[in-house]
Amino acid sequence: MDYQWYPGHMTKARRMMEEDIRLVDLVIELTDARVPAAGRNPDIDSMAGGKARLILLNKSDLADPAANEAWLAYFSGKGIRSALIDARGRGFVRTVEAEIREACREKIERDLRRGIRNRPVRAMVAGIPNVGKSTFINSFAGRGAAKTGNKPGVTKGKQWIRLNKNVELLDTPGILWPKFDDPLVGKKLAAIGSIRDEILDMGELAVSLISYLIKEYPGRLEERYSCEMPQEHREGMPGGEALACLETVAAARNCLKKGGEPDLEKAAKLLMDDFRSGRLGRISLEKYPPES
Ligand code: G4P
Repeated sequence: MDYQWYPGHMTKARRMMEEDIRLVDLVIELTDARVPAAGRNPDIDSMAGGKARLILLNKSDLADPAANEAWLAYFSGKGIRSALIDARGRGFVRTVEAEIREACREKIERDLRRGIRNRPVRAMVAGIPNVGKSTFINSFAGRGAAKTGNKPGVTKGKQWIRLNKNVELLDTPGILWPKFDDPLVGKKLAAIGSIRDEILDMGELAVSLISYLIKEYPGRLEERYSCEMPQEHREGMPGGEALACLETVAAARNCLKKGGEPDLEKAAKLLMDDFRSGRLGRISLEKYPPES
């Protein structure tokens, strides 16, 4: 992942997305099930206006099952089709095929009324970096999928993957830039690994995660690191409780500097790796969808 977003990059990504959207009937938007709201760029709503839409909550294997269900109900309440997937396998294929058919029902029926049969639905995948777009396309295509060549005139330079007799997928995904206007959104995207680690303060990130886990997932840290976490607040130190927990993680995992002092940087990295890979259990950073 090598993205740094500047206005020029964003304009280019937007232009490419808009070009591709013109070619498709359906936009399949991937977001991260652990942060379904922060993982989206809402600009897609205006860009894909008029097209059929489907939102896939990817990496649902890493997210809290109860939160996953709450998000599905939220999108359904808004009249938006959505599904939970783990893009690394092919378990989602039937569900997503059915969702695509439903999302494009109007177009399919319109075609039939006009006597057009067997014209495949054309779809594209879009989402912010690292959300799993390539993994999804590769899994969906599977080994048997045929690539259809360029169609002169209309789709110059574009490759379509024939998923089945009803659906063709653009083989390159649309890349949406993450939206960081809200610092909390930036923090969530950093936690799931959507921002390059070199530009992050891992210690700060780990302390925020610990504070969140203490509140929303009590017992998880103790379980993972087999130790008692300090419960009391340290006098006059904001986030002190979380910092003390990070020190405990450092001790439990032997992250020590030369003089025997806790190596908090190393412990922070270890904790974030454990979170991102699911070793801390299934955790959603946005557990509760907005009320409306
Ligand atoms: P992108 O095209 O949107 O940028 O994302 P990409 O498919 O490259 O996926 C980013 C990372 O997310 C990859 O891990 C991929 O394996 C992982 N991933 C994608 N979908 C899922 C999912 O549903 N569940 C889980 N747990 N992981 C998923 P990586 O560590 O960057 O690469 P690799 O070690 O898998 O090769």
